[in-house]
Amino acid sequence: MAGFIICFDGIDGAGKKTQSDLLVKSMNEIGKNVSLHSYPDYESRYGKIIREFLDGKIEMDVNELFLLYLLDMVKDKKTIKEEIARGDIVVMDRYFPTTIAYQCAGGFDYDNARKLEEVMKLPVPSLIVYLDVSVEVSFERKSKQKGHQVDRFEKDKLYLTKVKEMYDRLYEEKYSGAQWIKIDATEKPEDIHQKVMGLVSVDRVQV
Ligand SMILES: Nc1ncnc2c1ncn2[C@@H]1O[C@H](COP(=O)(O)OP(=O)(O)OP(=O)(O)O)[C@@H](O)[C@H]1O
Ligand SMILES: [Mg+2]
Repeated sequence: MAGFIICFDGIDGAGKKTQSDLLVKSMNEIGKNVSLHSYPDYESRYGKIIREFLDGKIEMDVNELFLLYLLDMVKDKKTIKEEIARGDIVVMDRYFPTTIAYQCAGGFDYDNARKLEEVMKLPVPSLIVYLDVSVEVSFERKSKQKGHQVDRFEKDKLYLTKVKEMYDRLYEEKYSGAQWIKIDATEKPEDIHQKVMGLVSVDRVQV
């Protein structure tokens, strides 16, 4: 039986890693094979360049950034397809909605973003869980978590407001034909997880 992709996405500090880890743990407990991908993939050659950019060590324009973030996912396309083919639940801690939301908020043309992403034919998630928090909550969480270590995107409230608007748009448009659900991500992590578990069973997603 083929597997499927579940993607957690949303602005900084929405709880993507928290929910990805909880889902992986619950699926492992019931003996289901899970693969986890987290983007940007800082271990990859592309991710290393992204890290340098986020830390302010190098400059890139929005076109370079869009293509680099996209490339960081495209490099895993074959692997992701293999994981699905062998029946895994593939959990994405950020995926293409992130690239579109952040780069279009940074000035990349939305229609071109859609076209480029579509040309690359990245495997489409069965479910995109949009973890919804306000920009204020995002800032509170990130500054509590990281103090002064926040990266260049995380510093900028106006920018993050635009990113959130892009996520809202992707959600409204149900981008890429995936099923989307929006969850109030200010709820307790365990409660959010239970909502997700209510939608996901070992062999399918039912929204
Ligand atoms: N539902 C929640 N309620 C309160 N705090 C939360 C919740 N979920 C996560 N957090 C906390 O918020 C912070 C960010 O969580 P997490 O790393 O899971 O978010 P993220 O979306 O992966 O962030 P980033 O965008 O930076 O990768 C952590 O300190 C985490 O413990
Ligand atoms: Mg994260």
